[in-house]
Amino acid sequence: MQRTVSGDVVVDCLLGPADERSLADDVLDGLTRPFKELPPKHFYDTRGAELFDRICELPEYYPTRAERAILEAHSDDIVARTGAAELVELGSGTAAKTRLLLRAMDDAGTLRRYVPLDVTEEMIRRTASELVEEHPGLVVHGIVGDFERHLPYVPAPEDGPRVVAFLGGTVGNFPPGTRRRLLRAIGRLLRPGQDWLLLGTDLVKDPEVLEAAYDDGPGITAEFNRNLLCVVNRELDADFDVGAFEHVAFFDREREWIEMRLRACRRMRVRVGALGLDVEFAPREELRTEISAKFTPERLAGDLTAAGLALGDVLTDPDGLFALSLSTPRRAVAAA
Ligand SMILES: C[S@@+](CC[C@H](N)C(=O)[O-])C[C@H]1O[C@@H](n2cnc3c(N)ncnc32)[C@H](O)[C@@H]1O
Repeated sequence: MQRTVSGDVVVDCLLGPADERSLADDVLDGLTRPFKELPPKHFYDTRGAELFDRICELPEYYPTRAERAILEAHSDDIVARTGAAELVELGSGTAAKTRLLLRAMDDAGTLRRYVPLDVTEEMIRRTASELVEEHPGLVVHGIVGDFERHLPYVPAPEDGPRVVAFLGGTVGNFPPGTRRRLLRAIGRLLRPGQDWLLLGTDLVKDPEVLEAAYDDGPGITAEFNRNLLCVVNRELDADFDVGAFEHVAFFDREREWIEMRLRACRRMRVRVGALGLDVEFAPREELRTEISAKFTPERLAGDLTAAGLALGDVLTDPDGLFALSLSTPRRAVAAA
């Protein structure tokens, strides 16, 4: 781990050569399967993060606006309910919506520390320096890492309640079993009777609305999807013809999740130089790049219960598109 300290900002960088390995392992694993697949965390190089920000501004992409509306209406209530002194945020990105919570904590006089964790170093550093300017006295302890592997590096809680925020519906990027395991690991960051999980989940709705959100008119989501191939080309010396892959997004009605895929327009052989690997694509063969699970109240409660958490308040936007929920480690509820 590499630590840098500057004034009120500490940044621990846990990603290094071993993580180029993680991309290499995922590519080797995912592109040699009968049904090809790569995990969505590799979308987010600097260009991918910029494209995601543009997606958040698209009229079709309602999740960001809906979650923001909930935070605008309820940040003060969330802070009053939890007494949050510390905010840990997983997959923090640019922390655009999080600022509403930090402002509410500051107004309530409880704000002490913000701990953002994301794979994108540049965003962690930029956000950290902006936030210490905006909130004098705030300590930011950033972690450049992977929340699937690096949760044990989140610093021990200080005095006062901790809220762990996992926003943007990112939890939906995991299939049910992995999702419950991840939620259980997140639960270990919480002290019973004191700390809270604030979880953003997108809700099941009209498939047309869902599909439009992942297949916008101007093609920004398509560019974001194809950027994954640019990452593999750059990092692993591959020769994907990026323009020869078509963006596909559909709602799987049985599993109630969105799938994003890349479809090969023609037969292709791709060389992944760093792995000495040749990958064949048949015409119209698809590579799955993301799932984004949508939630019903039952699915949300089921996942949290299986992870040892008890669901408390569930807040939604006026159109009922998105939910933000507060939950606590179950022992606390049993003891209450
Ligand atoms: C869908 S975006 C959400 C960003 C922000 N939380 C929001 O609500 O707008 C997902 C974020 O999680 C980060 N991310 C994805 N997988 C990750 C992982 N395994 N570990 C750490 N960060 C990850 C990405 O870099 C990106 O910033």
